[in-house]
Amino acid sequence: MLTFGSLQLDMPFIQAPLAGYTDHPMRILAKRFGCPLTFTGVMLDKIALHHKALKKLKFQPMDNEHPVGAQVLGDDPEVMAQAAKKFIEVGYDLIDLNFACPAPKVLRRARGGHLMQKPQFIRETFLRTRELVDTPVFMKIRIGYDKSEASEEDFWTICENAATDGVDMLAIHGRTVHQKYRGKSDWTRIIEAKKRFPNLIIFGSGDVLTPEIAVQRLRDTGIDGVIVARGAIGNPWIFQEIRALWNNNEKPPAPSLAEQGQVMLEHFEMICSTRPERKAIPYFRKFTAGYCKRHPERKKTLLAMMDAKSKEVVIEAIQQRYGLS
Ligand SMILES: Cc1cc2nc3c(=O)[nH]c(=O)nc-3n(C[C@H](O)[C@H](O)[C@H](O)COP(=O)(O)O)c2cc1C
Repeated sequence: MLTFGSLQLDMPFIQAPLAGYTDHPMRILAKRFGCPLTFTGVMLDKIALHHKALKKLKFQPMDNEHPVGAQVLGDDPEVMAQAAKKFIEVGYDLIDLNFACPAPKVLRRARGGHLMQKPQFIRETFLRTRELVDTPVFMKIRIGYDKSEASEEDFWTICENAATDGVDMLAIHGRTVHQKYRGKSDWTRIIEAKKRFPNLIIFGSGDVLTPEIAVQRLRDTGIDGVIVARGAIGNPWIFQEIRALWNNNEKPPAPSLAEQGQVMLEHFEMICSTRPERKAIPYFRKFTAGYCKRHPERKKTLLAMMDAKSKEVVIEAIQQRYGLS
C-alpha cells in the first residue's frame, strides 16, 4: 500500500494525465476497473485563476471519481502555485506540476518540458506550491531536455532537489523533451534515479502498453510505481488485468463483444452529457481506435460510422456491431 498523506493507493499502477483524453468519462471508467488514482490532462494555470473558467464543470472533479489529481502547467512559479491552490479548493485531491510537456506551443511559451532546463524554476514552483496547499504535490518530468551533458546535469539537479525538498512523487517519462514521443522510452535513467535517491517515491512512464509490461516494469526496476498512459485509451480493462497479474492471479478473460459495446455506449453517453453532439462524436472517435484493438474486426465499420452526424446513429451502430440490439 502506497500512502500519500491521507491518500492510499492499493496498487502502484495509475492512470497517466493525457491531454484531450483523461476527462471525467475516461477517469471514471479507469476507476471502475480498479485504477487507484487518475489525473486531469494538463491544465494551464490561468484557467484556475480566471474568475469564471474554474466554475465550468469540465475543470472540476466529480463526486464519484476521487481520488483525482489536477495537473498544472505554467511559466511562473507564483502563478502556478496560486493555481494549484484554486484547484485544491474546487475539490482535487492532489497537485501534479507539469515540467514534461513537449508540445511546440508549450515550449515556445517557456512552459512544460522547456523548464527541464531550469532546475531552479522547478524547485521554486514546488516549494511555493508546497506552502500553499496541504495535499500531496507530485511532479512530472522527463529524463532530460535533450541528450546533452548539460541536460543530464539538470536532470540530476532536479531529482536531487525533489528528494531534498520532499516532493511526494516524482513521475519520470523515459524520453527526453526533444524526443517528444519518438523512439523507445529509456528506463535506465529512471532506475538510476531510484538508486541514487532511494527515499524519493518515483513512478516510471513510457511504453507501458500491456498489463504484462506494467507488472514487469515494476518488478524489474525497483521503482515505486508505474504509470499507464496510451495503453489505457479505449482500454480501461488494463487496470483489472494489471491488478490480477500483480496479485499473481490469472489474467481475467478479455471483455466479450457485448461487454465492450456496453462500456463504449456508456463512455459515449458520458461524453454526450457534457458536450454538444457535433463535438461529442469526433471526440469519441479518438477512443474507438483503442477500443477496436480488442476486436479489430469491428474497426472499419466503427470508424466509418463515426462520421455520423447524430448521437442516435452512433448509438445504433455500436448496438448493432457489438450485438446489443
Ligand atoms: C495524447 C497524449 C497526451 C498527453 N498528455 C499529457 C499531459 O497532459 N500531461 C502529462 O504529464 N503527460 C501527458 N502525456 C504523456 C503521458 O502521460 C506519458 O508520460 C507518455 O505517453 C508515455 O507513456 P506511454 O508511452 O505509455 O504512452 C500525453 C501523452 C499523449 C500520447
